[in-house]
Amino acid sequence: MTEGLVTAATAATELVDEDPREVAPPPSTDEVVVLDYGGQYSQLIARRVRECGVYSELLPHHVGAEEVRRRRPKGLILSGGPASVYAEGAPRLEPELLELGIPVLGICYGMQLIARTLGGRVEGAEVGEFGRSELTVHKTGRLLAGTPETQSCWMSHRDTVFSAPPGFDALASSTSSPVAALESNERRIYGIQFHPEVVHTPYGQTILKTFLRDICGCDMSWSAASIVEEQIERVRAQVGDGKVICGLSGGVDSSVAAVLVHRAIGDQLTCVFVDHGLMRKNEGEQVISAFRDRFGIPLVAVDAEDRFLARLKGVTDPEAKRKVIGSEFIRVFEEEAAKIGDARFLVQGTLYSDVIESGGGTGAATIKSHHNVGGLPEDLQFELVEPLRMLFKDEVRAVGTELGMPEKLVWRQPFPGPGLAIRIVGGEATKERLDLLRECDHILQDEIRKAGLYRDLWQSFCVLPDIRTVGVQGDERTYGNVVVIRAVTSDDAMTADWARLPYDLLEQIASRMINELRDVNRVTLDITSKPPGTIEWE
Ligand code: XMP
Repeated sequence: MTEGLVTAATAATELVDEDPREVAPPPSTDEVVVLDYGGQYSQLIARRVRECGVYSELLPHHVGAEEVRRRRPKGLILSGGPASVYAEGAPRLEPELLELGIPVLGICYGMQLIARTLGGRVEGAEVGEFGRSELTVHKTGRLLAGTPETQSCWMSHRDTVFSAPPGFDALASSTSSPVAALESNERRIYGIQFHPEVVHTPYGQTILKTFLRDICGCDMSWSAASIVEEQIERVRAQVGDGKVICGLSGGVDSSVAAVLVHRAIGDQLTCVFVDHGLMRKNEGEQVISAFRDRFGIPLVAVDAEDRFLARLKGVTDPEAKRKVIGSEFIRVFEEEAAKIGDARFLVQGTLYSDVIESGGGTGAATIKSHHNVGGLPEDLQFELVEPLRMLFKDEVRAVGTELGMPEKLVWRQPFPGPGLAIRIVGGEATKERLDLLRECDHILQDEIRKAGLYRDLWQSFCVLPDIRTVGVQGDERTYGNVVVIRAVTSDDAMTADWARLPYDLLEQIASRMINELRDVNRVTLDITSKPPGTIEWE
């Protein structure tokens, strides 16, 4: 979760001593479990399964057959992973997982595990196979039904299956993989060496659908929107007639969570919106009008700009800024919570990706670092209400739309909790600089929206380094601010690419900033991807 003021509260969630993977699936829907062997695309597999209309959860591979059985899934998918099946300490396949009476699909490392466990031949190859590859289908079998004899696919492996286990059919091969797909219909075990979940495998979704519908017999009726009613029931059951508060940031996650909870329990919910003065232009007013006026949700709006700016005086180090903002946020939030009285529950916009990340792919608990700008103190004894805990970001947006939330709110780009303060680099976040940065950001967003590109970008914003450069305007020499434009595309903020904004648009943005804002005399563009850069500058 990357947005908004609830950051401090988010941190608290991450520190809560519980099994982060304890996410009960919705009853009444078919589920397919994805076991995570540490592959870079594991989350994507679960997302793609859900896109096919089947609820899916990603569990660390070591949860064991017992846990998988307990969930009564209709099928099991074993993900890829970075290890060699021969490496010491590499994750093994518990043979019992193949005896659960449900179909199993191994992808990449998952297929190699199956092949090796059941007596096929898997060997390390001299040359790996990375990137696009050509697949030749010798026999479609059940798994590859409806796909052509030759097709592209995406590979990422070094170990290779040279022969399928006894009783299995080898269905396809690729340039470097003698066995790139295998199946045993009798045992209902299937494997593919390539990655069906990435867009570079054009028939990937067809193959997943075949597995889910024709092989597992799933009813394909799950949708993010369909869980709204169910979550409403759950929230009601959890809070009874208790009082609930929610820290609202204006970001997508906390907003959708708040509207959903309000739908469930009405005015038992009070939202608290702390305006720290580090927001984008008009953001405070937008939050207040959307929640109070449009949704009629009880909202306490606190104008805390002066408090935050006073605390930020003289602070130039980015981590110090984050800490100051985090701790001040907690103070303000605590004061407001105390005024509301006996609220026992706190709504959090925790997403499924947060749940997965805080549980770690192999179960080692990792706590997200820089997003922890603070934490709600322990004596704030709230029970957490997390209605989005099972959803990915795009699914949260679908729920928001289902709840009738405005497009502008639902599609808002992520915004860091410490706000514009961490975009003033190398210097103090003063009111004057914040105002300038806010205006720059406003021009940027305005032009990007007008160009119809806002939804294509993961984030777009300006950075204001604390330096001055020389320029000439009219006949005068100027000594003004440099503004940096940062615009990236990304799926999840873990990696990002700089967005190729059209030159004409960049020119229009730069010329508006320089003409409309006296103190700006130079505009630059950040062309760094992540890695090696990060999205934010601080
Ligand atoms: P980086 O800069 O690490 O950012 O590539 C990844 C995502 O996290 C957001 N971000 C933050 N979010 N508090 C937050 O709530 C923070 O201190 C913070 N720093 C970065 C960033 O906007 C991007 O979406």
